[in-house]
Amino acid sequence: MSPAGPAHVEQVDPRLEPVLRRWWEVGRDSWLPDRAVDDWPAWEVSRRALPAHNPEREASLYLAYDGDEVVGFGMVILPVLDNPHLAFADLGVLPGHRRRGHGTTLVRDLEQRVRDRGRTTVVIEGYAPPGGTAPCEPFAAARGYEVANEETIKHLDVATYRALREDLVREVAPYARGYRIIGWDTVCPDEHALECSRLLSGFNSQVPLGDLALEDSEWSPARMQEWERRNLAIGRHAFTSAAVAPDGTLAGLSGLRVDDDAPTTGSVGITLVDPRHRGHRLGLALKAAVTDLALEHFPDLAVVETTNAVSNRHMSAVNERLGYRSLERLLELQRVL
Ligand SMILES: CC(C)(COP(=O)(O)OP(=O)(O)OC[C@H]1O[C@@H](n2cnc3c(N)ncnc32)[C@H](O)[C@@H]1OP(=O)(O)O)[C@@H](O)C(=O)NCCC(=O)NCCS
Repeated sequence: MSPAGPAHVEQVDPRLEPVLRRWWEVGRDSWLPDRAVDDWPAWEVSRRALPAHNPEREASLYLAYDGDEVVGFGMVILPVLDNPHLAFADLGVLPGHRRRGHGTTLVRDLEQRVRDRGRTTVVIEGYAPPGGTAPCEPFAAARGYEVANEETIKHLDVATYRALREDLVREVAPYARGYRIIGWDTVCPDEHALECSRLLSGFNSQVPLGDLALEDSEWSPARMQEWERRNLAIGRHAFTSAAVAPDGTLAGLSGLRVDDDAPTTGSVGITLVDPRHRGHRLGLALKAAVTDLALEHFPDLAVVETTNAVSNRHMSAVNERLGYRSLERLLELQRVL
């Protein structure tokens, strides 16, 4: 292959729309050739979301150049309210420019930038077909990254869900007796805000994360409201279903996001059942309820995406029962700097 070119990396200002559009196009063209799933956000979604303030995380965007020519893209996400040691990065090189060292230049540049911000651990997501591999695996291994966790990306065809739904609801009803399933669009009702924060705060320690250096985050009603305000500002509906236990506490919740600008695709957020309330098929009941809620608001919703850790047997069983199909491996590649 040709020797490494004189690549350099420049930060992109997402408030300058033509520049953001260029970044978005290079990202899409670097990202999708290796993917089984087209989950690059729609332009309208990126156009609204990327320049908007995010109280949870700071995002910075980059383009890599070989001389004047754009050859790749990068993005760094720094959590600002928890996990102060962590940085998440995405990067890609346009297919015609690979194996010339640009990926290496990009990853080293992004690592230096996060090191300058005091972060000590970088996590990059890589994707590969089921049972197969992709350039991200040898690349990450060559650059000192380890697979800290492996998840499976799954899609639910809404037509399949509609066909399964009646049997499914009938199946869970006797188990979930005594629990009241409620739901909301984006804004959590005040009377459930404290309980909802309690459940969110315990989430990271309850899902299998492999060796991923992710710590729990502390949620409060105020933090939730900030997050809700951002979702409202960018036209993002964060639907939530929750199970109210007989004593009025929340036994579990499940989330699903749909953007006004991409009304045919949804993306699952967290699903969590409090350990004290497991065994009542609440996971299934909650995921069905939140899918129903999203469908009420977005009747044209066609596909819902989710991921769960390969080792998370219970969640896998729930997703299978709902009709989700496995499409891709998601590798969480981690390096301590
Ligand atoms: C992964 C990716 C960023 C690599 O970009 P690149 O510019 O080709 O990477 P480099 O040229 O710097 O490669 C560095 C080393 O990684 C390894 N490598 C990279 N691509 C490889 C491939 N397809 N097969 C085997 N080894 C590979 C090699 O050891 C290579 O060194 P060498 O060329 O001297 O043998 C690129 O393939 C890509 O954009 N993939 C899609 C997006 C993606 O997967 N992002 C996540 C990255 S972890």
